[in-house]
Amino acid sequence: MKVLVIGSGGREHAIIYKLKKDKRIKELFCARGNAGISKIATLVDIDENDTKSLIDFVKKENIDLTIVGPEVPLVNGIVDKFEKENLKIFGPNKECAKLEGSKSFCKDFLVRHNINTAKYKEYTDVNLAIKEIDGFGYPVVIKADGLCGGKGVLICKNRQEAIQGLKEIMDNKVFKTAGDKVVVEEFLEGIEMSVLAFVDNNSIVPMVSAKDHKKVFNGEKGLNTGGMGTFSPSDIYTENLEKRIKIDILDKTLEGFKKDNLNFKGVLFVGLMVNDGVPKVLEFNTRFGDPETQVVLTRLETELVDIIEAILNNSLDKIDIKYTKKECVCVILSSGGYPEKYEIEKEIYGLENLDDDIVVYHSGTKLKDGKLVTNGGRVLGITCLDSSVEVASNKVYENIKKINFENMHFRTDIGR
Ligand code: AMP
Ligand code: GLY
Repeated sequence: MKVLVIGSGGREHAIIYKLKKDKRIKELFCARGNAGISKIATLVDIDENDTKSLIDFVKKENIDLTIVGPEVPLVNGIVDKFEKENLKIFGPNKECAKLEGSKSFCKDFLVRHNINTAKYKEYTDVNLAIKEIDGFGYPVVIKADGLCGGKGVLICKNRQEAIQGLKEIMDNKVFKTAGDKVVVEEFLEGIEMSVLAFVDNNSIVPMVSAKDHKKVFNGEKGLNTGGMGTFSPSDIYTENLEKRIKIDILDKTLEGFKKDNLNFKGVLFVGLMVNDGVPKVLEFNTRFGDPETQVVLTRLETELVDIIEAILNNSLDKIDIKYTKKECVCVILSSGGYPEKYEIEKEIYGLENLDDDIVVYHSGTKLKDGKLVTNGGRVLGITCLDSSVEVASNKVYENIKKINFENMHFRTDIGR
């Protein structure tokens, strides 16, 4: 089989690293990929949103299967366009990707199908939003409706902050048209966790749990990022919670897809807030999470391509998906300044000195004049699979001591 993966981050590196071990796969391509991916797949210099050129490439190369990593092409309808050309592609169609692409569409779905989530209201009129804002209590959560690369959620401590936030989004358009509409919702207390699930028309099958760390500094301090590190399994994922998530959230979601005629095939990422053992949905993403994927796929033993083909054939219920009992940790090394301003093209030193049981998933890296340099906010995901999260975490941090680039930043509390 020839497979093309679309995307260029650590998630895509983890997907390709896993596919590389699948026996049936003969050739792997990635658009556009990064320096790490270039060692195990052929890089294709086509933008992830240039659907026409991607289709031309897939036809010319006789690619058997395309896998979409990031949300923007999904929300723009890449899957529908491939399917129209009878090309095999893994990911949800445009209508289903709206669950991630529009917060109000998602909230509406959750409420309609009686799935636990924060109370909310949507607004297109800034004055009405300001008039009603006190009704949510403080802190209050304000979300731009559309895609904002993980930046569109404001948690406002008081009325003044909330009014300022609403004006920034709705009047000053800091998130452009993504902020034409906002969702305002009650603040939920609790512990966050994410569950990724494989989904086809007949079943929804959760993967092993993972815990992301969204804030840039230790102890959940500082700005929200795409994710600074993960471990799997999540420490709060008890059998009881697993059962509640299945019955109260996943099963109801599948029923909802059926009732709404949503032909969801792909990966559903469920962001949860758990309080007193009760899970509530914060958000749906319609793709693998980054860096959740780095730990979850490292634990996956079943061939990924078999799972993907089962989903495309609506036979997910026929396949037994296995994970190792070993536990996994991934710590992200980022460019100092991320998620705000940061510099790129800093030379990366030391990767050749790492222990054999360390896997390095590249995010923002590239080769410049034959040297490995940084090329993004999140740069590398240093990953280890071992008997426990604690052991894996210690190994990861021992190895990070050997890596260096100018202004390198990382959290020192992942899995500790
Ligand atoms: P989202 O993109 O909707 O997941 O929001 C980004 C982050 O904002 C989440 O990971 C949470 O940390 C936080 N968040 C979102 N909604 C709420 C809420 N209703 N209550 C508390 N925190 C929230
Ligand atoms: N790690 C969060 C995300 O992928 O959206």
